[in-house]
Amino acid sequence: MDTPPPTPTPLPPPGTLLGELDTLPDGVATMGELPTEPGSGEAPFRYVLLRSGTEVKAYVNRCAHFGVPLAARQDLLIFVPHTSITCNVHYARYRWSDGTCVSGECDGVGLLAIPVVVDTLGQICVAPSP
Ligand code: FES
Repeated sequence: MDTPPPTPTPLPPPGTLLGELDTLPDGVATMGELPTEPGSGEAPFRYVLLRSGTEVKAYVNRCAHFGVPLAARQDLLIFVPHTSITCNVHYARYRWSDGTCVSGECDGVGLLAIPVVVDTLGQICVAPSP
């Protein structure tokens, strides 16, 4: 199956709150989405947060293969704690630490990383632009 070219995904602005460290179990990949304006017809911005200790990785919840969410629901999300996260459509597997595809239909492509910071209150926010 050919991989379609990725389409750009705009990231939320710096400072956007994505989650709180206290609510993320260590070693768990957790899906989230930002609300949209009622009636806007826009799709919500979907993301996934991966916690390892005090470190959090964030990726756009969009498989590099067909551009669909990695799972339809949290309980269907496939991951190996601290190691990998897998799309449950055709099972492309991505490295936990950087979102690189390590096996499956997305070879050479990866998840789009969202730069995040964890502040002193444990809030996980989109990082300021470098
Ligand atoms: S949609 Fe095919 S591996 Fe994710």
